[in-house]
Amino acid sequence: MEFYVYDNYDEVSKYAAKMVSDFVNEKPDCVLGLATGETPIGMYKKLIEYNREKLVDFSRVKSFNLDEYRGLSGSHPQSYRYFMDKNFFNHINIDKHNTFIPNGICEDVKKECSDYEDKINEAGGVDLQILGVGSNGHIGFNEPSLELCVYTHLTNLTEETMKANSRFFKSGEEVPDKAITVGIGQIMKAKKIILLASGTKKADIIGRLFSGKVSTENPSSILQVHPSVAVIVDKDAGALI
Ligand code: F6R
Repeated sequence: MEFYVYDNYDEVSKYAAKMVSDFVNEKPDCVLGLATGETPIGMYKKLIEYNREKLVDFSRVKSFNLDEYRGLSGSHPQSYRYFMDKNFFNHINIDKHNTFIPNGICEDVKKECSDYEDKINEAGGVDLQILGVGSNGHIGFNEPSLELCVYTHLTNLTEETMKANSRFFKSGEEVPDKAITVGIGQIMKAKKIILLASGTKKADIIGRLFSGKVSTENPSSILQVHPSVAVIVDKDAGALI
């Protein structure tokens, strides 16, 4: 595991975007695993700039997002499909047909999950996975639990995660309590992983990535046994390293 600590969020976003664009330039038909949430927004902004300046080309890239809320359609402003279109895909030269996100309103969730898993495998698996991390250690929406799920599955979000997610919803709007998420097995199969974190609220969980202890109660801890992980954080998130 490599750790990079930068002064602030802007620097984190810039260096993460540089790492991603170098990767895409090296393998223009690569498969990216993408995350939503607040943390990667700055990196997406930088990548949009790089794409405009023709420093990186996404025309042959495929992408698979980690998760989607159960019950929200892609046109719902809080859905992750909407988030990705608004914050990234609408502004770069990626073919939207090559951007995959689980369908939150599918009728048959089990089928949706196994089809999603198959699609990732048929694309050759994820080459570069971008991750954020929850303050409770979740990656994707693999929440702390007695056991972790290998494959894409429907999961119950914890109270803590729902509270954190509620900041994106209007007051009175219902925050989904379930999501479809890629499992830990698929995340660990990615050839390279970049985990981003920013702010003091992530300091404790980032500090624990250094502990050497792997536990299902902290899903992010499993990344310690992945052969190629870059953790990019700002000073606040890196305070306990
Ligand atoms: C979202 C995802 C989540 C977030 C995590 C951190 O696709 O996979 O694991 O990365 O909840 O969210 P932020 O970045 O909002 O703190």
